[in-house]
Amino acid sequence: MKKQTQSMPLNTLQQGDCLKFLAALPDHSADALITDPPYSSGGLHISAKQAVTSKKYLGSNGASYPEFLGDHRDQRSHLHWSLLWLSECYRVLKPGAPVCLFSDWRQLPTTTDALQGAGFLWRGITVWDKTEGVRPQPGRFRQQAEYVVWGSKGDMPLQRGVGVLPGVYRVSIKAADKHHTTGKPTELMRSLVKICQPGGVILDPFAGSGTTLVAAAQEGYQWLGCELSAEYAQVARQRLAA
Ligand SMILES: C[S@@+](CC[C@H](N)C(=O)[O-])C[C@H]1O[C@@H](n2cnc3c(N)ncnc32)[C@H](O)[C@@H]1O
Repeated sequence: MKKQTQSMPLNTLQQGDCLKFLAALPDHSADALITDPPYSSGGLHISAKQAVTSKKYLGSNGASYPEFLGDHRDQRSHLHWSLLWLSECYRVLKPGAPVCLFSDWRQLPTTTDALQGAGFLWRGITVWDKTEGVRPQPGRFRQQAEYVVWGSKGDMPLQRGVGVLPGVYRVSIKAADKHHTTGKPTELMRSLVKICQPGGVILDPFAGSGTTLVAAAQEGYQWLGCELSAEYAQVARQRLAA
């Protein structure tokens, strides 16, 4: 049964919990989900998991960023919570819409389970190679990559006006372009949003400093975003207004 919801103006960022934000969006109202949720990856034990994000994620550029929220769950509850918001996204997306979810190596299995559990088809993984600029670890492989788990809401036609996209994105993090503890490079996001059909509506329920939304606007898409932290919502709004 179709859910009766209020429509929300396009190109709007809402500050609040994404479960409420998504519940207010009509069925079949977005053309792509491109998002970077909290990974809840840092810290093995409860005290470490509940630590503020500035302690869990130490940046290599020495900059300090506001704390971000929702990064405290253990793996089982992370999966459960991911199913809640991804199921709402499933309802909101149009049939055939692509989905891109950022993940690190620890949460890859949880992310691919959540994607499929919510009803999406899992189509693959594309890699963000952060280059050799990331912190080296003596005697270990460099933690140089994050991943984009991608899929679609059912069949995704080949003829969507979208070209061939890279299987690996090699993009370094630049201090001047980083506005969040785990902010993604704008160049990376400008390339990634092109999975959406030209001019479509891109949904990002975990906007952080707004990089997906900025990239969407720069590439000629419409967008809808949400961010729980008032501080980061403000950062995103400033970037979007610039
Ligand atoms: C990994 S960050 C996104 C960073 C973003 N890609 C950027 O480049 O700035 C995830 C964001 O989700 C937000 N968040 C956590 N729980 C949330 C919730 N329930 N609803 C909306 N946003 C939430 C966090 O505050 C955090 O800023």
